[in-house]
Amino acid sequence: MIEQFKQNRDLSDDELKILIETDEHESNLFKAADAVRRENYGVDVYIRGLIEFTNYCKNNCYYCGIRAGNSNVERYRLASDRILACCDEGYDLGFRTYVLQGGEDPYYTDDMLCDLVSEIKRNHGDCAVTLSLGEKSRESYEAFFDAGADRYLLRHETASEEHYGMLHPDSMSLERRKQCLWDLKDIGYQVGSGFMVGSPYQTTENLISDLRFLQELQPAMIGIGPYITQHDTPFRDFPSGRLDVCLRLISIIRLMFPYVLIPATTALGTIAPNGRELGLSVGANVVMPNLSPVAVRRLYGLYDNKICMGDEAAECRMCLQRRVEAAGYKIAIHRGDVKLKVESGVAV
Ligand code: SAM
Ligand code: FES
Repeated sequence: MIEQFKQNRDLSDDELKILIETDEHESNLFKAADAVRRENYGVDVYIRGLIEFTNYCKNNCYYCGIRAGNSNVERYRLASDRILACCDEGYDLGFRTYVLQGGEDPYYTDDMLCDLVSEIKRNHGDCAVTLSLGEKSRESYEAFFDAGADRYLLRHETASEEHYGMLHPDSMSLERRKQCLWDLKDIGYQVGSGFMVGSPYQTTENLISDLRFLQELQPAMIGIGPYITQHDTPFRDFPSGRLDVCLRLISIIRLMFPYVLIPATTALGTIAPNGRELGLSVGANVVMPNLSPVAVRRLYGLYDNKICMGDEAAECRMCLQRRVEAAGYKIAIHRGDVKLKVESGVAV
């Protein structure tokens, strides 16, 4: 089955179900995914410096620790000069991509964000800027793109309407989320999407719909990680997602989308001490260490026991280098754009 998957880059829903739920083909799946990753990206691991610049959010996603309804969070916002200083520090550490991420925080107007993006590009013209600011209007996405933003990360979270409704309040909709992703693609961003593994009420059928939606969207990056419990959310009593299922899904995604950028996420490193190394060994090729000031790190508490809370950016960078090299891979010092090959109109 795995050889056929590698050749065709697809399987039936029934076959996918077996790969997701059982360990029957696991070792072949992992080996094939690593082989495909090496064919496309060698042993290179792309790094992105993550700057979590605001933990204010107007949304109330039931799984998220910084949701508006969580009154136990101490809120913070970083001013532009602090964000720019994080970028400068990151540049010296070899980062050539900055990811600006935050809750949906209306305090930052489009003008402020455009100024920030163009200032980063002015200071570091050889770097890519990735935004991860949630749902915005098409006009806002266009303005950020015109200001120089290269990429946008927006997980679809789940491609099932019914499941989406179980994870989010009625004010949010899957249709709107998907529209944002299509707008971003149309504007010309390198788009990243993805989902949590093991989120409350998730079924294997939901995961298969996630893969089918990604086949339609053909994003440049697919970020998946385990759902992890946060003690102040309505989902506080649900268990976190499983490591083995996450790893199998990383491999499945690598075989379906040979070219795609797949991060070994912080959440994966949180549920297992060597989670990120394992992720890299089964198909992932990106890591996103934290460049946010240490003083605010613990306040961006999406989930419990998040790793790397106390380490300075330089320590994080060195720790990751050791981990990446121990796993047999090598950090690449460049923007790390997706290697998108297009054959007869279809990304492969
Ligand atoms: N506001 C932006 C958005 O909605 O895309 C970016 C910030 S949001 C916190 C980034 C991602 O964190 C979400 O897409 C979600 O998948 C993930 N996340 C939130 N809560 C989580 C949890 N409890 N466990 C694992 N991942 C979580
Ligand atoms: Fe907005 Fe999580 S609810 S970032």
